[in-house]
Amino acid sequence: MNASTPSAGLISGSPGPLYQRLAEGLRGAVRRGEFGAGSRLPSERDLARSLGISRTTVIGAYRLLREEGLLESERGSGTRVVASGRWIGPAVPAATMPSAKLTGEPAAGVVDLSGSVVVGPEAVPRPAADTTGLHEPTAGFGYQPLGLPSLRARIAARHTRLGLPTTADEVLVTNGAQQAISLLFTLFGRNGGVIVTENPSYVGALDAAHAAGARLLALPTDAEGIKVRPLRETLARHPVSLLYVMTTCQNPTGTVMSTQRRTEIARLAERAGVPVVDDTTLADLVFEGRWHPLPTAATGITVGSLSKLFWPGLRIGWLRAPGALMTRLARLKVVADLGSSDVGQQLASRLLPVSEDMATARRGQLTARLDLMSELLRSRLPTWSWTRPSGGPFLWVRLPHGDGETFAQLALGYGVQVLPGARTSPDRGFADHLRLSFVNEPETLRIAVDRLGEAWAACESGHGSGPLRSFTVA
Ligand SMILES: Cc1ncc(COP(=O)(O)O)c(C=O)c1O
Repeated sequence: MNASTPSAGLISGSPGPLYQRLAEGLRGAVRRGEFGAGSRLPSERDLARSLGISRTTVIGAYRLLREEGLLESERGSGTRVVASGRWIGPAVPAATMPSAKLTGEPAAGVVDLSGSVVVGPEAVPRPAADTTGLHEPTAGFGYQPLGLPSLRARIAARHTRLGLPTTADEVLVTNGAQQAISLLFTLFGRNGGVIVTENPSYVGALDAAHAAGARLLALPTDAEGIKVRPLRETLARHPVSLLYVMTTCQNPTGTVMSTQRRTEIARLAERAGVPVVDDTTLADLVFEGRWHPLPTAATGITVGSLSKLFWPGLRIGWLRAPGALMTRLARLKVVADLGSSDVGQQLASRLLPVSEDMATARRGQLTARLDLMSELLRSRLPTWSWTRPSGGPFLWVRLPHGDGETFAQLALGYGVQVLPGARTSPDRGFADHLRLSFVNEPETLRIAVDRLGEAWAACESGHGSGPLRSFTVA
């Protein structure tokens, strides 16, 4: 976060007057390093406007923090984090990625519909629960930046089965798909390299592109995927380094790219000599049929993960890339962490053979919850609209009017966290959209939709600052 774009999470969900909740949120942001020593906070008026609250509330929060010695204000130069706190260092922008929760966020009792963690008690199947032999060092016993050979071979075999012939040499094991994206964006996006994405796109990828210093170009999509004409024109006009798409279960829209579109995109990219990353992290969550990676040979890169089938804390993902890229990527992986954990990789090796069964279980779980969520929203929020996703954990909802960022802030006051659409868009488009996950237990979904209904009613009646209360989730 920088001072001019306050995050929707700035108001804590704790009970108490709104100005105290804002002060607590600001304290947390300074503690986490989102505002560095000496950095300037938005003006009272701007912050009030962007959070949809009154200026008096912001004045109250700033006054409280000044009294605590955290902020200082000077006429003419605004409000700053005290410069004497140099030990806190320069500011570090907050990730937009909502799943990356830091300690203390969000407040207890808030139902979180902003993430994509698909977990339940069945998330840890028997092969993983049996830890026999995991403590024994594997052959090599040292740093293996490319990953455990046996796991690389299994991941390669999986790609081959899915229709993309792959050898173990073309696989690099990463700490989740997020690291795979970061390595690729660091390689292709540094020094202002141009990365083309879908608009909207995956928030964690946008974060990675910003961190790498890449230039982002976001192209429109339709029900079949990224549009061909804008892509053709962009490839002709710009020195594009990388194209990043999600062909199966796009995040956030849940669409699956049509076969014809895949072929056209692959052909265009190959002709332009531009590598294409197909992020297949959510692909196993497609509701019907089998999925296939993008049909690219020389330029094809696939990113994948075990986070959605099993559990994200396992932190096992991968990238599949042509051999020519491997040395470069492996060097970046060495700098990042010298290699992923041996124990996690051994677990992943045991889990991969049951991934088909897990995918079937996940699909059943998700489609039932999608049906429930759709029904709840239709009856409680009949003016909201969406297209039924073909897979994945989200509904990409369009509000009939208003702004998702303001509504998300209001909804937090009612005890539900949602992702405002603008976070998924490099040009802050889709301001009238929300990304809502439907992975929670049915009872929790009911509570969440009730709270969304209350928040929306308050929004419609102009009582925008939200109730002040604490939450208990059954
Ligand atoms: C499309 C997409 N890519 C990558 C990731 C990151 O996944 P991982 O937990 O494997 O890092 C996510 C997580 O939600 C995602 O939705």
